[in-house]
Formats: sequence, structure tokens, C-alpha cells
Amino acid sequence: MTSEPAPPLPRFPRDFLWGVSTSAAQTEGAVAEDGRGRSAWDVFTAEAGRIKDGSDARVATDHYHRYREDVGLLADLGVGAYRFSVAWPRVVPDGSGAVNAAGLDFYDRLVDALLAAGIEPVPTLFHWDTPHALEETGGWLVRETAEHFAAYADAVAARLGDRVKRWITLNEPAELTLLGYGLGQHAPGRTLLFDALPAAHHQLLGHGLAVRALRARGATDIGIANSHGPTWAASGSEADTGAADFYDLLLNRLFADPLLLGRYPEGIAEQLPGPVTDDLKVISQPLDWYGINYYQPTLIGAPQPDTAAPADFGGIALPPELPFSPRRIEGYPRTDFGWPVVPHALTELLDAFRERYGPSLPPLMITENGCSYEGTEDTDRIAFLDGHLRALHDAMTAGADVRGYFVWSLTDNFEWAEGFARRFGLVHIDYATLARTPKASYHWLRGALRDQARG
Ligand code: BGC
Repeated sequence: MTSEPAPPLPRFPRDFLWGVSTSAAQTEGAVAEDGRGRSAWDVFTAEAGRIKDGSDARVATDHYHRYREDVGLLADLGVGAYRFSVAWPRVVPDGSGAVNAAGLDFYDRLVDALLAAGIEPVPTLFHWDTPHALEETGGWLVRETAEHFAAYADAVAARLGDRVKRWITLNEPAELTLLGYGLGQHAPGRTLLFDALPAAHHQLLGHGLAVRALRARGATDIGIANSHGPTWAASGSEADTGAADFYDLLLNRLFADPLLLGRYPEGIAEQLPGPVTDDLKVISQPLDWYGINYYQPTLIGAPQPDTAAPADFGGIALPPELPFSPRRIEGYPRTDFGWPVVPHALTELLDAFRERYGPSLPPLMITENGCSYEGTEDTDRIAFLDGHLRALHDAMTAGADVRGYFVWSLTDNFEWAEGFARRFGLVHIDYATLARTPKASYHWLRGALRDQARG
């Protein structure tokens, strides 16, 4: 069957930042090299039954040793920026105290290689790899972790701040809170349900303290990467809309309201430790931009007796105490992960953000968007990216101030509790040989970026 080639993408602004995103724990490997300390994920993956395919990330894509090849792939792709993360346990092996210069050397080399290739480095300071030593003293449930994070941020900025202009503090504190501390699907594997809320507050506080540290080092371009997606109610009933509103609060407001409005949604602040009012001043320091990771909308209804979540929600068993239940979204194609592909929900999300935050909303970046599919002739991934870029353009035409878009991810990599089974890359990894092979989507994006550059 032949299909009509899609029309070219609409034109994005000339200075729009095109990039791809990755993270340290999912790509670097080299977990015991050059003085790196253990991370919460090293410990979690070593526990039986935690990772679906029984794998771990000791080698991952071996980005630590093959970063030059990966920078070559980025250059050939034609992106303007590379979003990677710095591994806290590589830089401060025990989470607090001594800085490991050899760990920083790696990022020094990576940043130089990127700049030499004309690619802007965009480091994320924390993408879930909490140093294990800190996890042992309570991890993000305790306030000290936020303070240690700021000291680590300062050490990274001291070393890279002469060349790195754009910083991201945290990646998706919502997922770490929910999956790591609330439901136990991710490291550190705690199942605290709503007692996980202090982890949300301390990550936000860590963000605010890190912003201060970065600013003190002269940084003028700082953002955060939060996960968001529209929450749809399963029906118009009060029970379903109430449950959907609550889930929307957890995913879309719990982290954005304190950052953008300087307050928690109603009913939350009372459940948090610490001098919350003072902390909110630190948390809500102005950002230069706000990053959104978007994958899919969520359909939510009132709690049901059968608590197994649909594939849309990772298919995980949910505890009966939750005041909502995720439902399966029908009528859309699905990725191999089982997630619904709904590009127009990105437009909806960006419209809703403008409406909710108005003048308090800084410029936006899409810091992650992507999908998992098998194979290298990945027409589905091309359709996904094409559809989402059009949806993004629609939102921008309607008034959303979006300055950049980053695809998740450059290469296939370690997909957390799913192991290596889910392939999000524009570049295929053969895990036996670690050979990199650009997929059809890589070539498609390369062509699209060339078209955009032609102006
Ligand atoms: C995370 C990535 C992850 C991706 C796909 C995001 O939640 O930031 O680390 O690989 O989604 O699941």
C-alpha cells in the first residue's frame, strides 16, 4: 500500500530551538567508573523482580564511552541543542560532601564536544538518580536532600557555567513522587501513597535552592521539566469529574502552581512539612522558561473495585485507597507501550496552561515528547512526531509562547522499570554490540529540520 507523503511541516520561528533529550541513568552506563557513587536506581535494579526484563543499567547505551559517536549523530541530525542529565552520584558520590572532579571531567568533555559540533548543551541537574547514600537517610522525604542538591548544583555550575548557558533543575518531580515514593514502581520503591507528598515539596525546594545557586554563578537561562497532560473525565457524573479534577491537581497543579503562582493548590500545604510559606518564596523565584514533557492525556473516573490500571497508565496494579481510577482511552492509535497517540491533546494542554496561568506563565519549551515502537522502518514514530509538531504549531498560532521542542529520545535506552523492552530512540541500539543505527524517523527529522532551516 502506498500512502501520500505528508505535506511539509508548518514553519516554526527562525530561532526556535530544536533538540533531543536523554538522561544519565538511562544511557551512560559506567556506573562504577571514575569514582561514581551508587544511585537509587543501581540499588533498585539489583533487587529481584523490579525490572520487567530483569535488566539493569550498568552498561545502558554506553554513552559514557561512546559520547563522541552520539555527538556525531546529533550533529548529523541537525539539532541545535542536546538535553542530557548530569548524574549527581558521579559528581558527589555520597550525595553530600566531597566533589569528584573525575566525574565532572566527563561532562566537561561532553560539553566541549557538543560546542565544537555547534550544539548547545542543556544539562538537567536531576533526572531521578538520587545518590544512594542520601536515599538511606530518607531521600527526598527529608529537607536536607534539597540542601545537598543545591550544593551539588553549585559544584556543577562552578565547573560548567562558563560554557553552559541554559539549565534545567529537575526532571518530572511528579513521576518520582508518584512512582518512586508513592507506588513503588520506580526507585526507591517506596509505597507511601499520600505520605509521599513531602518528596514533592522537597524536590520543589531543591529546585528553588538550586535556582539560587545557579543565579549566584551568573546563570540567566533556567527552566524545569515537568510532566503534564490533559486529564479527561470518564463521564459527566459528579463522581467522575471529581476524581478527574483530583488527578489533574496531582499531575498538573501540584508542581506548577507553587512554581508559577507561589502557592499550593487548596488542601495541599497543610499536609507538608517545613516552613511552607517561606519555602514557597524560594520555590517561586522567576524562571526564564518552563519545560513541559508531554506524552499522552489521561482518562480518569471514580475508583472502581477492579484496580488494575489500563496500559495507558503503565498497566500497574493500583492500591484500592486511591480516590481515582485511570480508564482506557478508546479511539486512538497506540504506541507499542500501549499509550494512546493523541496529538491534539498537546494543543489542548498548551491552551489550558495559558488560561490557567495567564501572565504568570513564562515562555514554554517542550522538553520531552516521543513514543516507543519496535523496528527501524518506524513510520508510526514519524506519524507521531509529525502529528505532535502540527499540534504544537496550532497551539503557537493560537498564542502559546513556545520556544523549543525536544524529542525523547536520541537513542533507544534503559526505560526504567520496563528495562530495554521499550524503544523510544530515533537511533536504534543493538544491545549485544551497542551499534547505533539511525531509524527512518531520524532521517525524517533530519529532513524536516533542513526544511525549517531553509526558511
Ligand atoms: C521521563 C523519561 C522516560 C520517558 C518515557 C519521561 O517520563 O522523563 O526518562 O524515559 O518519560 O517513559
